[in-house]
Amino acid sequence: MCAVLPRLESVPNPPATTDAARDPTHLPEIGREVAARGGNLPELRSLAAGCRGCDLWERATQTVFGEGGQDARVMLAGEQPGDQEDLAGHPFVGPAGKILDKALDEAGIDREGAFITNVVKHFKWRPSGKRRLHERPNAREIKACRPWLDAELGLVRPAALVLLGATAAKSMIGPEVRVSGPAAPIESELAPFVIATIHPSAVLRSVDREARELAFGRLVGDLRLVSDWLASSGRSGSGPRHA
Ligand code: URA
Repeated sequence: MCAVLPRLESVPNPPATTDAARDPTHLPEIGREVAARGGNLPELRSLAAGCRGCDLWERATQTVFGEGGQDARVMLAGEQPGDQEDLAGHPFVGPAGKILDKALDEAGIDREGAFITNVVKHFKWRPSGKRRLHERPNAREIKACRPWLDAELGLVRPAALVLLGATAAKSMIGPEVRVSGPAAPIESELAPFVIATIHPSAVLRSVDREARELAFGRLVGDLRLVSDWLASSGRSGSGPRHA
């Protein structure tokens, strides 16, 4: 079953947004309400900076909010910021980000014109010597962060949404979605064109060069579905955004 993006104007009983009511544990819902009222991305970003919707903020350096213009045609959503993203405060700037940049470039999608985000906006990690090792966010953490993604989707209203990796895909679409084969468009109310593909870090984890090339080719091929669709539907330029 497809996840349905809640109509922003019909979020049930959103908390009041007086400064006194900005309880940091309620900030995700407040952010969704701000988006519903026609707020903007900088306003959301500054609210998200103080988010205490789950416990991940305690060990993370900062909230890594989505980046890109409110007029972006394409939104890409990964799992959560990694070590370098956590330190830099920007999504997909570490090794997986480099792979994503190369794949976007080969697929003819301009990263600068896209909106890049994650389903969870704090880095979850465990120590291993001096290193911080990525830990997958659990269902509670993903759910707590979901209003931020809804708010980003509600403001950007991308024509195409790319879910990078199983965590993003399953949390946004449902447990039945698979990222193990070539992507096919997914019917969803999240955006007019939705696909789920492998996470760029799967390319990095490939066991050898051949597997790495295969995985990278798969990522590029899936992203080309997006650029082809944008071109064929007349949405790659500055035409009307989706209603
Ligand atoms: N992996 C993700 O899912 N997101 C990032 O921002 C970086 C790595």
